[in-house]
Amino acid sequence: MNGSVLSVRDLRVNFQTNGSKVSALNGVDLDLAQGESLALAGESGSGKSVLAFAVLRLLDDVADVEGKILFEGEDVYQMAHGRLLDIRGKGICLVPQSPGTAFDPLRKVGVQISDFIRKVEQIDAADARSRSITEMDRLGLRPVKDTYENYPHRMSGGMLERSLIACATATSSRLVIADEPTKGLDRRTKDIALSALLSTAENGALMMITHDLTSAKRCERTAIMYCGELVEIGPSESVIEDSVHPYTKGLIRSMPERGMTPIPRRVRSDPGGGCRFYSRCNEASEKCLFHPDLRMMRGREVRCWNVDA
Ligand SMILES: Nc1ncnc2c1ncn2[C@@H]1O[C@H](COP(=O)(O)OP(=O)(O)O)[C@@H](O)[C@H]1O
Ligand SMILES: [Mg+2]
Repeated sequence: MNGSVLSVRDLRVNFQTNGSKVSALNGVDLDLAQGESLALAGESGSGKSVLAFAVLRLLDDVADVEGKILFEGEDVYQMAHGRLLDIRGKGICLVPQSPGTAFDPLRKVGVQISDFIRKVEQIDAADARSRSITEMDRLGLRPVKDTYENYPHRMSGGMLERSLIACATATSSRLVIADEPTKGLDRRTKDIALSALLSTAENGALMMITHDLTSAKRCERTAIMYCGELVEIGPSESVIEDSVHPYTKGLIRSMPERGMTPIPRRVRSDPGGGCRFYSRCNEASEKCLFHPDLRMMRGREVRCWNVDA
């Protein structure tokens, strides 16, 4: 069996805002083994980015974080600060959600990519530059001689996104977490970006946050998140093509190519003690007033009382 890269146990994240509590994650369990790719999907506000930040311990100052996150067996929340800095980039590389703000506007994009590679891989400037050029070329940022010299304001959102991806794919990080990396890309560049990202899972692991279930299907497994909980997780083909959770089925129906039917009603700010999807679910029954756990059925884990094995 492949070694464990990431292990998340009963992860809970709460924000205190103006005297009220926002529960962003409500007990997430997740495992990623070496060589695995996992897509994480769900509506905006379901907690996907918070999960990414929590794994990198980037929420320490603003949120209450409970539970355990193990990276290659080491507890991220127990490690010394120096060790944590070591792991960020070299161990876990984040491709953040907003490419427009990720680059320093006053420095050339190619130089920023080279600097990142140089720091993470601890190689000299010439090697880092050549690796950066190769990767920008692979991601279709052509002609590379020009794009390397561009300042961020001269690049489109899609080019900046691919430049961010180049940082992750040019390094040998053991876990890449990419937050909506294909947003704003057209079909051709999306395909290039996905292939590059998936190649990082050959020697490490990939967690890709996405709204695009067609892209999710290219990952081995897909996890669906609703209101800070995983509601369905398993092989992508089963979860997307043969969904069983009413929320996953709703997400699929809301895709433009599957009818674009929105899920009725809004997420409840206070879902009470039962199933969090209860008020929007067209399959709800009395049992749903109690909170369901994830159960293994039909080849995936599902959090629903009304799905039969
Ligand atoms: N710094 C913060 N302070 C307060 N609430 C936050 C903060 N960051 C995220 N949240 C809340 O946490 C929830 C999950 O957010 P997020 O993970 O960004 O969702 P998404 O699934 O769209 O990535 C949302 O309700 C969001 O408003
Ligand atoms: Mg997000």
